[in-house]
Amino acid sequence: MNISIVGCGSWAHYTHLPCIMKCEGVTVISCADINVENAKSLHEKFNIPLYFTDYHEMLEKTNPDAIVCLVSENAMAETASGILSLNYPVMLEKPPGKTVKETNMIFNAAKKSGKPHMVAFNRRFVPVYTKLKEMISDYAKNNGDGIKYINYRMHRIKRFDSNFEDTAIHAVDAVKFLADDDFKRVEIKYQEMPGFGKNIANYFIFFEFINGIYATAEILVSTGELYEGCEIHAGESIYRASIPMENSRINDGGIEYRNAEGIYYTVGRNEICPYSEHYMTQGFYNEHKHFYECLKNGTNPKNGADTAVQSVAVCNAIKNREHLVSF
Ligand SMILES: NC(=O)c1ccc[n+]([C@@H]2O[C@H](COP(=O)([O-])OP(=O)(O)OC[C@H]3O[C@@H](n4cnc5c(N)ncnc54)[C@H](O)[C@@H]3O)[C@@H](O)[C@H]2O)c1
Repeated sequence: MNISIVGCGSWAHYTHLPCIMKCEGVTVISCADINVENAKSLHEKFNIPLYFTDYHEMLEKTNPDAIVCLVSENAMAETASGILSLNYPVMLEKPPGKTVKETNMIFNAAKKSGKPHMVAFNRRFVPVYTKLKEMISDYAKNNGDGIKYINYRMHRIKRFDSNFEDTAIHAVDAVKFLADDDFKRVEIKYQEMPGFGKNIANYFIFFEFINGIYATAEILVSTGELYEGCEIHAGESIYRASIPMENSRINDGGIEYRNAEGIYYTVGRNEICPYSEHYMTQGFYNEHKHFYECLKNGTNPKNGADTAVQSVAVCNAIKNREHLVSF
């Protein structure tokens, strides 16, 4: 299968190309970036035969089977829907647009072309979370009791980007993925930190789901540790899970289980995923694998832009410092 890349920035170098190289039967034949240096540098580093500054020209000349779109956030909706309207399947990085309108634009372009598309929300493919969902689903089957409450934690170090909501979307979407349902109502509080820069804040979010699950998320921009994980209460059990994060100061990862009867066990990160590369432990390889398998089998990938609309709505509310989002 021949793949082309649109957007040759740091994430293409650091994450996507290394994991595409591991996907059997997949070859990157061309890449494009409006910045010629970035296109050339990806071409040189990964031996990609051809590079371009205009993706239209690249598609015309190299006619790939699918595109991986890794452009900057504010160019994503126009580029991804442009690719789909030229009838090419596309996997695109998050966020699928900055607003609900942009997200719908991508979904409508996919519907019109009939071509598969997928938003790369890697938390939905993190091996620790896949295992956690399996364990909770088994618990629900055996006990007739499911998730009551989720507490999600995203702790970062010196993340003073003015568009931090584009990273926070991972926590919002992960909570939704774990609860397996739609938001009914979301409340957000902001702890502004002018000392760190303009518009820099910690976010504290309360989620109410249609299925009755409650969740909270604490999203902290600069703490003493790089950490991401959750605590889930289901029936009289508690699950604590954390994603193995590269360069994490505590570098943990795995699942801990405890119930009201005192049963306690852990499932270690290596038992869940025996690899150490960040693109394996953080789900990037799995999402690529899923996309290419769907293309081979002629099935639609999970995770179209339609499944991202609520998460984008919440992050757009964060950007505008709104306190309440009702659906
Ligand atoms: N899943 C994750 O954890 C994660 C982490 C980092 C970045 N990302 C996402 O990956 C994407 C890329 O991020 P990055 O860190 O590589 O950014 P970056 O700024 O390093 O690279 C983006 C590239 O896109 C190019 N570009 C912009 N508009 C274009 C257009 N119209 N056509 C072709 N190229 C265009 C830019 O010139 C740049 O080279 C973003 O959507 C970002 O949100 C996801």
